[in-house]
Amino acid sequence: MMKHTSRRSFLGTAASAVAGSAVVPSLVSAFPAPAVLRSRASKFAAVSSANGIRGVARAVELMMSGIDTLDAAVEGVKIQELDPNDNSVGYGGLPNEAGVVQLDASCMHGPTKRAGAVGALEGIKTPSEVARLVMKYTDHILLVGEGAKRFALSYGFQEVDLLTPESREAWLRWRANRGKDDDYLDVPRGEDVGARVTGTINMNVTNAKGEISSITTTSGLSWKIPGRVGDSPIVGAGQYCDNDIGAAGSTGRGESCIMVCGGFLTVEHMRQGMSPTDAALETCRRAVAMSAPRLLHPDGQPNYGLTFYAINKAGETGAASFYPSRYAAHDGNEATIRDTAYLFPRR
Ligand code: GLY
Repeated sequence: MMKHTSRRSFLGTAASAVAGSAVVPSLVSAFPAPAVLRSRASKFAAVSSANGIRGVARAVELMMSGIDTLDAAVEGVKIQELDPNDNSVGYGGLPNEAGVVQLDASCMHGPTKRAGAVGALEGIKTPSEVARLVMKYTDHILLVGEGAKRFALSYGFQEVDLLTPESREAWLRWRANRGKDDDYLDVPRGEDVGARVTGTINMNVTNAKGEISSITTTSGLSWKIPGRVGDSPIVGAGQYCDNDIGAAGSTGRGESCIMVCGGFLTVEHMRQGMSPTDAALETCRRAVAMSAPRLLHPDGQPNYGLTFYAINKAGETGAASFYPSRYAAHDGNEATIRDTAYLFPRR
């Protein structure tokens, strides 16, 4: 743990050393310098949600060959976006209540202090790439809906049907069982009725120069109200990156992550000296504390899930969840699935 106290006392010393100057001391207090993790060497590393186990391996491999951190992370998450069997992201992601797949993504590039995002993007398999284009080629950060699609098409993306036979079937089952009084016959008892899920991939990476990037991409909450966006395309919620400190992001109930600016808050916890795991766990605590009563069981434990993933400038990784969960990490040598820290044992 650092350092906060010692940094304060350093500033105190610096301020007294220039006593006599009317300008410098007031600047020092008005613009306190961020605590910067400079003491340890950086390394190639990556952390992501568990579905990113192939992605962290790809991202680290690419960074080791000299590819930029964000470009490597985009290639890592694209594996899931293009995988029809991952129903939480990109192609094959579960649709909204109208049966339309709407995708969200955001990214940050630490070295250049830039961000890009898209929300409710339809018909494009890889929203991560479109978010990066918003970042690279516009003065904006977030494009949504029809405008985001037109923007993607202008760069040559192909519009495709993002529903797979499996994701359409899941939606049809959900629609059939949606209400007792509609005209759709219910799915017979005992059959899969299309349970509601949130799924996402968040990935945060560092290279040996200490450059950091982060990205999150998702199809969001299944059967959502059309137009709903969660935390994933919200810079500071679904992911956040500060090249001096680290990066963090989330999966799970996006509305609750937005309530605590989860990505940003986790990076701020690391700025205060917490390890990535402790920083993520502290953000989980805040999310529970900010949960409305309807989101809590009578014993105060949340009735929903949220997980935060974090990496610091030294390439140390960690993750924490409300309940026991798993995540993927690459330490520069190998990619492994690990257990998250958690607040409550499984209910
Ligand atoms: N965390 C993904 C979402 O809520 O959309």
